[in-house]
Amino acid sequence: MDFVMKGDLCYSDSPECLTTLPGGYLVVEGKQCAGAYKTPPSRYAALPLIDYEGKLILPGMCDLHVHAPQFAYRGLGMDLELIEWLNRRAFPEESKYADLAYAGRAYDLFMQAMRASATTRLCCFGTLHAPATLLLMEKLEAAGLRGYAGKVSMDRNSPPTLCELNAQQAGQDCEAWLKEAGERFTRIRPMVTPRFIPSCTDALMTRLSALARRYDAPLQSHLSENRSEIEWVRELLPEASGYADAYDRFGMLTPRTVMAHVVYPEEGEIALLAERGVTVAHCPASNINIRSGIAPVRKLLKAGVRVGLGTDVAGGQTIDMFRAITDAVQASKLYWRLIDESSAPLTLAEAFYLATVGGGAFFGKVGTFHPGYELDALVVDDTGLPHPQPLTVRERLERALYLPGDCTIVQKYVAGVPILS
Ligand code: GUN
Ligand code: FE
Repeated sequence: MDFVMKGDLCYSDSPECLTTLPGGYLVVEGKQCAGAYKTPPSRYAALPLIDYEGKLILPGMCDLHVHAPQFAYRGLGMDLELIEWLNRRAFPEESKYADLAYAGRAYDLFMQAMRASATTRLCCFGTLHAPATLLLMEKLEAAGLRGYAGKVSMDRNSPPTLCELNAQQAGQDCEAWLKEAGERFTRIRPMVTPRFIPSCTDALMTRLSALARRYDAPLQSHLSENRSEIEWVRELLPEASGYADAYDRFGMLTPRTVMAHVVYPEEGEIALLAERGVTVAHCPASNINIRSGIAPVRKLLKAGVRVGLGTDVAGGQTIDMFRAITDAVQASKLYWRLIDESSAPLTLAEAFYLATVGGGAFFGKVGTFHPGYELDALVVDDTGLPHPQPLTVRERLERALYLPGDCTIVQKYVAGVPILS
């Protein structure tokens, strides 16, 4: 269906340039945006008009890194550091997804929250259980969301309840899941998901890399999140020159790869990520909560690394991408003040760009309202933030991003389709 939406449009023209069009018109042709206009060209005059007068219309947010099975315990265990947090919180909870009934109840909650959230596209981790991950994909697809989900692969340094038998079996299980998921789903696609180097043997990594190629699937994992994790990887793969190289040796750094975190990259690793076209999922809330640190986002951007944002629930406590935007800004200010004064803090416009266009690039032409982009949009009612003074649309957007709890997403479009009834 083709139509026109009217409202207060906000979208990125470039990382630095956030454009606003008060009372603007957004033309939608099928899945795609045909442009944002102050006054719509007369050739669109016959199209149906959906009037969202007084509401903000923004591009949908892209959450590049979120753990679906960790949603059920978000906000818990926040006094722990990564490895202890994995052992005491993440692994015991994820083990429960062997029970499909439990998975169904928990993934219903995740799906409902995701559907109502600012996120239109996502890259999410499931657990190592194929049936539960298929169920997750079924629910996300039925909710109208788009993106990727991964059956997690792990065959070492994991509890017996969450450890595949051996690399051969793990490879076969991943392949069977890739086949079935690839046949069953069109909008939520399978993504090869080695959890991280410490939980995958070399033999499994070799198999997973081959599967990603054979099935033309993207790949996601974790990279350089925490100092003791990085030390552990050095011990596990002493022949690698660093953590990034540990993935690169298996051919896992490609333009179809998302690596979460990248808090402590060496200079050479930054250059390698840029050269390979890897997308980094910056997860500021998680990096603070489980005491990982602050990722050098400005440095990554300057080096030409692709960057988007992730919530990393449940390292991050919320799936709210508005919060991820302002967390990214706040974390970058501390980085500038405490770590490196040559790394200018991210502006709000830049962080907004990362959450929309930056992450969106991983899914195709996604993340803004330029002609030819897939139309992902949020209609935001910000009347919960009344103001006695006049505010520009840009100022209203800033407040909505900093105070998301006072705003309501009243409609959400994913590839041109409204998904909230
Ligand atoms: N590294 C390996 N697994 C995980 C996980 O579940 N969350 C985070 N934040 N880091 C990880
Ligand atoms: Fe993670």
